[in-house]
Amino acid sequence: MTKFTVNGRPVEVGDHPSLLAALREELDLTSAKDGCSPSGQCGCCTVLIDGKASVSCQISLEKVAGKSITTLEGFEPAERERFAAAFAASGALQCGFCTPGILVRVKALIDKKGSSLTRDEAARFLGAHLCRCTGYTKILDAVEVLARGEAPTAVLPGGLGTRGARYQGVELALGDRGYVDDIKVPGMLHGALRLADHARADVVKIDTSAALAVPGVEGVFTAADLPGDLRVGIIYTDWPVFIPEGGRTSYLGDVLAIVVADSRQTAREAAKLVEVSYRPLRPLTDAIAAVDDPENAVWELEGNVLSRSVYKRGDVDSLLASSAYSVHEVFQTQRVEHAFLEPESTLAVPGPDGTLKVYSGGQGVWDDRDQIAAVLGVPTEKIVVELVSNGGAFGGKEDMSNQGQTALAAWLLQRPVKCTLSREESLFIHPKRHPIRMEYWAGCDAEGMLTGLKARMIGDSGPYASVGMKVLERAAGHASGPYRLPAIDVEAIAVRTNNSVCGAFRGFGANQAQFAMEGVIERLAQQVGLDSWEMRYRNAVTPGVVWGPGQVMDEGSLGARQCLEAIKPAYDEATSLGKAVGLGFGLKNSGLGNGFVEIIRAVVRFSEQGDVEIRHCWTEMGQGVHTVAMQVAIEELGLDPCRVRVIVDTTRELGAGQTTGSRGTVMGAGAVADACRRALADGCRPGVDYEGEYRVDWTNSLDEGLENPIIHAVFSYAAQLVVIDRETNKIEKVVAVHDVGRAVNPMLCEGQIEGAVHMGLGYALSEDFPCDEEGRPVNMTLRSLGIIRAKDVPPIETILVEAPQPRAPYGIKGVGEIGLVPTAGAVARALQQLDGQWRSTLPMKMPASEGANAADE
Ligand code: FES
Ligand code: FES
Repeated sequence: MTKFTVNGRPVEVGDHPSLLAALREELDLTSAKDGCSPSGQCGCCTVLIDGKASVSCQISLEKVAGKSITTLEGFEPAERERFAAAFAASGALQCGFCTPGILVRVKALIDKKGSSLTRDEAARFLGAHLCRCTGYTKILDAVEVLARGEAPTAVLPGGLGTRGARYQGVELALGDRGYVDDIKVPGMLHGALRLADHARADVVKIDTSAALAVPGVEGVFTAADLPGDLRVGIIYTDWPVFIPEGGRTSYLGDVLAIVVADSRQTAREAAKLVEVSYRPLRPLTDAIAAVDDPENAVWELEGNVLSRSVYKRGDVDSLLASSAYSVHEVFQTQRVEHAFLEPESTLAVPGPDGTLKVYSGGQGVWDDRDQIAAVLGVPTEKIVVELVSNGGAFGGKEDMSNQGQTALAAWLLQRPVKCTLSREESLFIHPKRHPIRMEYWAGCDAEGMLTGLKARMIGDSGPYASVGMKVLERAAGHASGPYRLPAIDVEAIAVRTNNSVCGAFRGFGANQAQFAMEGVIERLAQQVGLDSWEMRYRNAVTPGVVWGPGQVMDEGSLGARQCLEAIKPAYDEATSLGKAVGLGFGLKNSGLGNGFVEIIRAVVRFSEQGDVEIRHCWTEMGQGVHTVAMQVAIEELGLDPCRVRVIVDTTRELGAGQTTGSRGTVMGAGAVADACRRALADGCRPGVDYEGEYRVDWTNSLDEGLENPIIHAVFSYAAQLVVIDRETNKIEKVVAVHDVGRAVNPMLCEGQIEGAVHMGLGYALSEDFPCDEEGRPVNMTLRSLGIIRAKDVPPIETILVEAPQPRAPYGIKGVGEIGLVPTAGAVARALQQLDGQWRSTLPMKMPASEGANAADE
């Protein structure tokens, strides 16, 4: 037993691998979060030890014997309130997973430095913390407020267009709004996964006896224990929940067994004892070679081409041949990890009535439910998935990670089981951003008007489908960026390999394609003799223009030129000052499009006291879908925000599908508005469920063969400017102009953009998740991913444009997806202005001498 003091109270704890584990598992103090234990690289677990801020996941209990520990729970109530209010009021948190740790660090800093704490100093000290959502700008704003000794109030926003704190922002800042791993139920056991040792190998034997013999282990389950389906998947059911004996691994995230024990530590230790014998095979790790490789990359799947997305309009070859200027270039992007700070966690609790309740932080509650039911071989009514707001996702939590295995263990043992992935397991398992090789041919006339574009793309999708085919389809659709083209010819192939699975990630293929397109535009502009801005303005889509696969752009496309017009003063100023200036321009759809009928519902209910509940089933993951729902209700009903409660209701089928691509914002707003209007028409009677609906049923699939298909219902647009100082080689600022259609909450919109620009700069300059020739990921820690730290983020100036989207509720277009679409192209051009080098491969790296914006190593 170890004795120390926590929040002024003497405690005595048993054996734990770290102080963090003792705080969370035994003392039930969960404000300190576990983002990467035991590596000490995210800062989420920061506490005060004798008044000094320290990560707690690397501190052994021996080291804290007799010491005084303070967690966020132990701050003075007034101080807790002030810190949380400052962060909520400044928009300094999104998913909130990083926030409690940052608050502890900030307290230590302010205790030491008081009002003399500068923004730069704070940014340096925040080097011990990662925030994947905010881009740090608003965090530093909040720190300045606190250092000045101010006591702001976290005022909730009103109707549409008002700034204000996010829904539950204060609870979130304090770490009081639980994530899945914060939940404990009586009798709960812990699960740990045994992952594959080879990316491609026949599994000869799985021996669980040594693991089963460990005291405290309650069960070890493998594919042999599955009562239902072996494979799951959102679109294709090709992803095995376990690889069985006699089966074959297809990447290093494959699961062979789940070990269940009375503690997490025991389960993890015992999982290492599951012995697996293999017959290793040659992994297929080169996507281009895999296309024609006679061997199948994936067990029991014939052929390595997952999908081929093709469209053609006009006679590209002859237009290219007769163009005044032309360019031919190959672009290559890299694989990137989401690095959401909350690793995946699932809790499954069997009920006395024969049901199973599964707490999931996934992005698609109904997909989770259906897949779990299939794995267990039970009707879907037996499974209730409770959607728990997660600590960031960015697309990486669309697929099931450990939900199937955890549900199985709880089902078979009839005991609650929680399984939380370690950071390493999380990196192995979930899908990444696709690396894509893109060969582009493009031409323009003497005035710089584009004549034709041909693009050939090959994306490494890893072994399982996930949504890889849709990502490459989206890359194909967005191949031409926001530009008018008389003729276009595109093919995009998703290839199965034995590298990490690739799937959804903010931008969904549009980022890659528009890095290439922006490179092409710049090269052509220089041949014509036009500047970056003029070339884009001339070619930007406008209403009536036929775009990409043939879609006739509507009035929403007015936003394209409006973005360019709004960025022009900053562009002209930076250019006239002789800076190295890069302009990036992009568009991104919101919603699924491509002929899918999307029907979304929400419920509004009044209490006798006049309070209002809004029920929907989207995942809140920091993007602010709850706040949007609240603001729409206020707009329609004229309520006091304090009277609104937003509930994720997964007891009834309100539709939704996956929470992706700004769907929650655009479509959720439509459904809540409709529910409110129905309520108003009926006198807002207490206790009545007013169900509203929003549907998008007017998009087309390319398969319909239409000349002018409506591929997407909504597009947002953005122009970004990257300015590099020629003397320091530093990015001195980024200007981000975004057309969001209608800014529901401008502060939250800015936060989305700042976070996306931070992610986009990392994508452009430093982030990478390569796999070696064995299919083994190389960068297996948060620090090695190349994420830009707080002190290296340049000032980001955000300008919102509002060109309403016809047929969208209130004209909303969404902002989350497009955030980093133009960034890499803008950085490439700024670097080219700096040193004359054209770059076509990501990440690009800053020029060697003063790579001040590259991430810390
Ligand atoms: S959990 Fe301790 S630093 Fe990440
Ligand atoms: S708010 Fe910082 S990681 Fe999400």
